[in-house]
Amino acid sequence: MFRIGALELKSRLFLSPLAGYTNLPFRLTLRELGGLDLATTDLVNARSLLEKNPKALKLIETSPADRPLAVQLFGSVPEEMRDAALYLESIGISSVDINMGCPVRKVCRVGGGSAMMTELSKTAELVKGMVEAVKIPVTAKMRLGWDDANLTAPDLACALEDVGVAAIFVHGRTREQGFSGTVNLDGIRAVAEAVRALPVVGNGDVTTPQAAEVMLARTGCAGVSIGRGAFYNPWIFRHTAEYLATGQLPPEPTFTQRLEVMTRHLDLMIQVFGEEHGCRMFRKVAPWYAKRFGPANEFNRRIVRLSSKAEYDEILASYVKWREQFLDGNGELLPRFRIGPLTASFMESSQPEAATRTGIPVPKGPVEVW
Ligand SMILES: Cc1cc2nc3c(=O)[nH]c(=O)nc-3n(C[C@H](O)[C@H](O)[C@H](O)COP(=O)(O)O)c2cc1C
Repeated sequence: MFRIGALELKSRLFLSPLAGYTNLPFRLTLRELGGLDLATTDLVNARSLLEKNPKALKLIETSPADRPLAVQLFGSVPEEMRDAALYLESIGISSVDINMGCPVRKVCRVGGGSAMMTELSKTAELVKGMVEAVKIPVTAKMRLGWDDANLTAPDLACALEDVGVAAIFVHGRTREQGFSGTVNLDGIRAVAEAVRALPVVGNGDVTTPQAAEVMLARTGCAGVSIGRGAFYNPWIFRHTAEYLATGQLPPEPTFTQRLEVMTRHLDLMIQVFGEEHGCRMFRKVAPWYAKRFGPANEFNRRIVRLSSKAEYDEILASYVKWREQFLDGNGELLPRFRIGPLTASFMESSQPEAATRTGIPVPKGPVEVW
């Protein structure tokens, strides 16, 4: 049991917001695989939500199976942030997360995102207004600081604890770092040690159950939040939960299971966004599944132009045939084509193939500088 304010959660593993990706279909796909309880939306502009902007409303679209759900807000106007939190509470959202980590200039320029990490008392005042207005938990997501000379996360976390924030999610990099370099586990530990009783959830580069275990052990954080690792391996929550409970690593999903889950994801995309838009959005999702298929250039070449479900079925059938040339007599990929899990930046790698990869890819999109 994990507690965030009044919210009792079944898992200490969390889905990190990934703008453009953590939509309802992806969340449902992950939830069906297990191990995940509190999931979050992409970041949503508080003002757009109050104006009932259709794009903002689509970002918070949910369903009964998509519970408990956190909505991540960004903004810097205290009244707007408060009113947006009140609105989210009124429609049954489980908790509100505040974005304090977004490095995108458009967000920082207006005092939101990681700019919030530079003005502690102003930020604490804004958060206080939200906490006092709603009963649902208010949480904050931050980086370690603006840059190495300004590692403000521990002080900010304490200031937020004082005004009643229910949990802190911290990505172990600075804004300046972007996605480069190693996740700084000592930096996360400094946040976990600075607060009195607030749950601190570590985040960054967790791609395997073992990496989650190391992050928990070396930082003293209460939980782990996973973003890109969930794309790379949608089973990561269930596998990590099992591994943390038993010390046993569950077997890797088979190729057939990967195809089933990918197809389920597309079906949900079509249900939520319609066939044309859902297929277009899926063009950037499918190559993530394909990263573990073995040779997949034939699949990727065609899937990035996907426009209908019928076309998907045809692409898949012809890819499965094409892939046969890489299989042994038992239908398994020949060893030289097998691709293992990615190793997190902060883990020692014992796998030669993993050692050659420099880091987990950052998905393309409007926010690739996250
Ligand atoms: C494409 C992309 C979009 C992101 N969008 C958000 C966002 O909307 N809000 C947020 O707080 N963090 C966002 N992040 C940061 C992630 O939540 C997370 O902190 C970061 O990717 C490190 O965790 P990971 O290595 O598990 O992905 C985004 C990251 C990426 C790559």
